[in-house]
Amino acid sequence: MSKRVILMTGTPCVGKTAVARLLTSKLDAFYVNLTDLALHENLILGRDEERGSIIVDENRMLCRIREIIEDCYKKAIIIDGHYAVSVVPKELTTYVFVLRRDPVELRRFMEQCGFSGRKLWENLASEILDVCLCDALNVYEEGKVCELDVSGKRVEEIVGEILDILNGSKKCRVGVVDWLGRLESEGLLEEFLRI
Ligand SMILES: Nc1ncnc2c1ncn2[C@@H]1O[C@H](COP(=O)(O)OP(=O)(O)OP(=O)(O)O)[C@@H](O)[C@H]1O
Ligand SMILES: [Mg+2]
Repeated sequence: MSKRVILMTGTPCVGKTAVARLLTSKLDAFYVNLTDLALHENLILGRDEERGSIIVDENRMLCRIREIIEDCYKKAIIIDGHYAVSVVPKELTTYVFVLRRDPVELRRFMEQCGFSGRKLWENLASEILDVCLCDALNVYEEGKVCELDVSGKRVEEIVGEILDILNGSKKCRVGVVDWLGRLESEGLLEEFLRI
């Protein structure tokens, strides 16, 4: 049985988990949250004390994800995490969805998530500089990487767009946002790109 393996990536706090969970229920899929998996199964090399984050053991994670996909009895598997493209076997992946959020909005989301100081500006810079999109395109060809501008959209609306792509009624595209250009035209670049 061929299984659809769908990766949900994007900058921290962009809305991956909210979208992935609703998509999971719509597709009756199996859901994997990479951070939870790493912590529950101790697939970590250590902690980055300065950033307050975990350092994932990517090799062990890759083996474990392969096992999970092979053993899974559902027809679709949603894998949620900003480093998903580094830990999911490439040949098993159907689509990579990269969620993008306007930095002005994302900053508010991040503040609500409790980010502040250096961590906030580093993560915002990642969004502005397309880091997750570039990571995805370094591994996958364009047809598998679908970039979605989720700014101002409800979770249901975003999941609707993903379902349209999965059933072929909407095109999977990249190059849909230009945060650098947008911030520059609004005179906000210096304020937002602090590192
Ligand atoms: N489309 C949306 N509209 C409004 N609020 C949202 C939307 N998507 C997510 N949120 C809210 O934003 C916050 C961050 O969302 P979420 O946890 O899904 O992000 P994430 O990308 O999974 O973050 P992390 O990388 O830390 O796991 C949550 O409080 C969530 O309820
Ligand atoms: Mg999450």
